[in-house]
Amino acid sequence: MSKKDTLFTAKDGLPFAFDADVSKVFEDMIQRSVPGYGLTLQMITMIAGLYTQDKSKLYDLGCSLGASTLALAHGVKVEGCEIIGVDNSQAMLEKCANNVSQSPVPILLKQDDIQNINIKDASVVVLNFTLQFIAKEERLALLQRIYAGMRQGGVLILSEKVSFSDEFEQDKHIILHESFKKSQGYSELEVSRKRQSLENVLIPESISAHHARLQASGFEQSQTWFQCFNFVSILAYKLEK
Ligand SMILES: C[S@@+](CC[C@H](N)C(=O)[O-])C[C@H]1O[C@@H](n2cnc3c(N)ncnc32)[C@H](O)[C@@H]1O
Repeated sequence: MSKKDTLFTAKDGLPFAFDADVSKVFEDMIQRSVPGYGLTLQMITMIAGLYTQDKSKLYDLGCSLGASTLALAHGVKVEGCEIIGVDNSQAMLEKCANNVSQSPVPILLKQDDIQNINIKDASVVVLNFTLQFIAKEERLALLQRIYAGMRQGGVLILSEKVSFSDEFEQDKHIILHESFKKSQGYSELEVSRKRQSLENVLIPESISAHHARLQASGFEQSQTWFQCFNFVSILAYKLEK
């Protein structure tokens, strides 16, 4: 278990970055900040078990400390697969290498922008709370490249913080999420500093915008399989032709 996240008790942390300080507390931070994060990891394992194809590649884009990468590895039941974990933060990836060293499936880690990665022969691709950090105007091209690099019958698991066009719904989800964070031990000050720090860094979009973009990227079908407050996870399908 990582150190307790007390980053925002001491400083404003503007703007938020996945640097060495964050890497030391990230495991604790994401568990206490993202409602349902543990469930997304469990279901990544289950979904990988259902959709990983023989001798295919699995990609974890924005792999951080390797929790979602290992979740994929534990789901693979077929032979000859490789998992490629990508993150552009050196601090995160150094810790990740240590965390995934006992993986049951070979894992190749790459320090790069996920927008530079060549996706090939993939049966399962994961973007677990990563697309939200990519500039909005660059998201379509990334999803198009993911779709193009996937095998037919493959899936993309896309988990995101989302926003709501309805003001009432948006406000209430923010209240629920912030209440969740306080229930996890964060103070009012920490919650408000983190909110400011993520402004213009984490850019949420509506659930319908995500589905529309997935469709525009080529995915024939997509479904929201999980929602807790303003956090969702979507499964997008590249169907057999
Ligand atoms: C919220 S974390 C992902 C959590 C992780 N998938 C998990 O389930 O534990 C987002 C990660 O995406 C990485 N990231 C953000 N933008 C990126 C980019 N353009 N290229 C590569 N990695 C990026 C960050 O460094 C960070 O480690």
